[in-house]
This record gives sequence, structure tokens and C-alpha cells, in this order.
Amino acid sequence: MIETGSTRPFDKLRVPSLSGDWRSRPQFEHGASEPLLAAGPTPVMLPQMATPVFPQAIIARKRDGHVLSPEEIASFVSGVTNGAWADYQATALLMAIFLRGMTAGEVSCLTEAMMHSGAVADLSGIPGIKVDKHSTGGVGDKVSLILAPLVAACGVPVPMISGRGLGHTGGTLDKLESIPGFRVGLSLDAYAAQIRRIGVSMIGQTAEIAPADRKLYALRDVTATVESIPLICASIMSKKLAEGIDALVLDVTFGRGAFMKDKTHARELATAMVAIGHAMGKPTRALLTAMDQPLGRAVGNAVEVVESIEALKGRGPADLMEVTFALGVQMLLLGKAATQPSEARARLENAIADGSALAKFRDLVTAQGGDARVIDDYARLPQAPVLRELTAPAAGCLTDVDPMAIAQTALLLGAGRANVSAVIDHAVGITNLVKIGESIPRGGRLCTIHAHDEPMLAVALQLLQAAFTIGERPAAPPILLDELIE
Ligand code: URA
Repeated sequence: MIETGSTRPFDKLRVPSLSGDWRSRPQFEHGASEPLLAAGPTPVMLPQMATPVFPQAIIARKRDGHVLSPEEIASFVSGVTNGAWADYQATALLMAIFLRGMTAGEVSCLTEAMMHSGAVADLSGIPGIKVDKHSTGGVGDKVSLILAPLVAACGVPVPMISGRGLGHTGGTLDKLESIPGFRVGLSLDAYAAQIRRIGVSMIGQTAEIAPADRKLYALRDVTATVESIPLICASIMSKKLAEGIDALVLDVTFGRGAFMKDKTHARELATAMVAIGHAMGKPTRALLTAMDQPLGRAVGNAVEVVESIEALKGRGPADLMEVTFALGVQMLLLGKAATQPSEARARLENAIADGSALAKFRDLVTAQGGDARVIDDYARLPQAPVLRELTAPAAGCLTDVDPMAIAQTALLLGAGRANVSAVIDHAVGITNLVKIGESIPRGGRLCTIHAHDEPMLAVALQLLQAAFTIGERPAAPPILLDELIE
């Protein structure tokens, strides 16, 4: 287990020992050798077990650094799902896992138990290899909105279950919901029927999918146990595997604007998730991508929908298209719609050039009840009443833009959620962001702020002043695509 000793939150990330075999099910040492405690709550009886398993015995074993058996892990997950484990017991075990780590085999068992804590979509009757993409997220990351219809237009069915934004990262569902009428709450049956009919569905996590993760994530959020690679890995992969996918492409972002601040931890997480995917028989690849400035030129909800539609019309910003195409290439290869990366790339570019990707987006919006007229008339999307440009105090080259300052300003404007129950304003955000490496005249536009009112605008202007650094010398745009892990 690695502990970095740095003070930044994600540098405290706990990672498991990777010495285990991530690709196969290892043999576990057995949990029943420890004496069971006589006092306390009713023990959980598992179907195939002769001996009851007490939560406190399982917690103690992990606390003392033992490897948990598949039965103990199953007992924990079923107990969390059906309420047999109290929240304080679940969080005690989460903290023990956070501190002690898990072997590859334990993470595999945890993922499988969490995946089976609810419904697992069966898309096997739908022709084709169903491939999804999951991103660990970042500022201005609207890749899913472009990628899902684009890949579906190339003949690979895309079953996509996404999340909402929390804190500084935006959520695909919030962006889609800025399209009037768009419904993300389809049942699993409607989701499957739509994939069969048009090849793509973009919905939110239903109550049926991985309920154990829903419970555990809420507990982790308030007990300082989010930043653990075994727990993140099981959380993400259990949901993805329950979607009914045949293969998965992961975009694991790292950098100032990402969930993971450094590449070492991003690589650890990517490696762990790829191994779990393979262990579950689902070909999985991960791309490490840098997130040191916002992706594209827009951050918000409706404003990101506009940028995504522009991308589908062939007018997307270079960095956004680079990441979208790189992930799309991997999806087409896994979906066997192409055999070579160059062939996959050409197919993706053609689908944009010939309008089929945009047509697929139109089908998707219509199928989910959205007003597809927004595609031709952006004024039908929510519009912020107050728009103002932030201008450059001096001429030069943009050498840096702080993605967290941009994200926090968007959050403050109302584009994101500070807590899970907050209501977001789909209209507000930031557009026309200048990118690192671009030159700018004195008084030139650094970005446009879309605000709800003048007081909000004033605060946003103040926050953004310090977000941009203009230098005298040229600066190179950052390298985005880092490593492919398969
Ligand atoms: N996203 C998830 O879905 N789960 C985690 O644990 C972290 C990020």
C-alpha cells in the first residue's frame, strides 16, 4: 500500500498493493478462522454459509490487515443493501479499507457484489458489441454528449448511464437536461428498447442499478473515505458493469482540473479498473488524459450543449475533438467497427462530415422527449439574462488558465451543485474561453460570463481576474493524451 505523505487531498489517496493477480480470481484465505463475537447485532446468514458472519468480526479482520474472503465481502454488501449492517458499521469497514487497502482479488469481489446488489441490464439480445465510455470527469468535459451519438452513428451501440455534477465537475445528465423536455429517468426496459431502436441511450443511474454503491458513496462522502482506489474502482466499475456493456473505454483524467491531481494515482486507478473489467470478461481500455485547463471553450450546462452540437456540426474546439476522437477510436476498435486506429479515426471524422453523427444526436434527443429544434436554434435553450466579457489587461500569450478558478466561478454562478440537493441554473456559465498558447491583444476577450444578475456577474468577474496568466513569450498548448492502458 502506498501513502504519499503530501498534504493535498488527493495525494492522500490510498492505493492497494498491485501485487495480486488482477486478471484472475485469486484464492482467498478464509475468514471463519477468527473467533466470532458473541454480543451485538444479529449476524448475517449467507445462503452457502454454515457460520454466521458478524459485521464487527469482518471489520476487525480488515482493521488488522487481513484479506477478506468473498463471503465476508458479500455479507458486507448485502448487509449494506438490506439494512442488516448499521451505517456506523459500514463506515467503520470503509475506513478500515481506506487505511489497509485491498488486494486485487478483494476489489474484484467487492465490484461483483456491488454490481449484483441490484439489477444488471441484459442487452445480450441486442445485436452488436455494446461499448460505453466513462470519464472520471473534469472542467468543461462534455465529451459524452458528442461521443455517444458519434460512436452510435458508426454502428457501435452505446449504452450510457451517467451521473450528475457535484462540486467542481459538471455532470452529463445536467447538461442534457438543459434541453427542454429531455428525460434522463428512463426505466431499464425503455433504456434497452431505445438502444435496440436507435443504437444509443443516455440515462441516469436508476434506483435498480447498484443500490449498494448509492448507499456506500453517500457514506464515503461524509466520512472522508472517498479517496481510496479500491473503493473508487469498485464504485465506478460496479455501475458500469451493471449497464449491460460488452466493453468499456475509460477516460481517466489527471491534473489541476481533475478528480485525480497527479498522474501516478490516475495510472493506479486506471490500471485497477482495466484489470477489473478484464476479470469480469469485459474488454476494457483506459486513456490517461491531462486536465490542466478546461476542455473546450465553454463551462456550464446549456452552453456546453451548444459547444457539443457545434462539435457534431464539425466546428468543435481542437482539444475537445482530440479527446473525443481518441476515445472514439478505442470504442470503435473494441466494438469491432474498425480494425486499425487510422480506420476508426476516419470513420469518426466521416460521421461528422456527412452529418450522420448530428442526425443520431437528433434521434437521441427526440427519443428521450427533448426539443430537437434546439439543434438548429440555440435560442431555444435556457439563456442567461446578463452577459459580459472579461478582457485582457495586457497583450501577450495565454500561458495559464486555472481550471479550478473557472469551475468555482461556474459553480458560484449556479451552473453546478455545492451539495446533492442543490438546484442548478442551466443557463449560466462561461464561454469563449481563450486557450493556453493563444495570443491576445490588450483589451481582447478572455471569456464571456453568462450570469443570472449583476451582483453575480460582479463576483464572477472578480474571481476570474486572477484565473488567466498572460505572458510575453509564446506558450505551447498542453499535451492532452498521455497513455493507453489495456
Ligand atoms: N465516481 C464514482 O462513481 N465513484 C467514486 O468512488 C468516485 C467517483
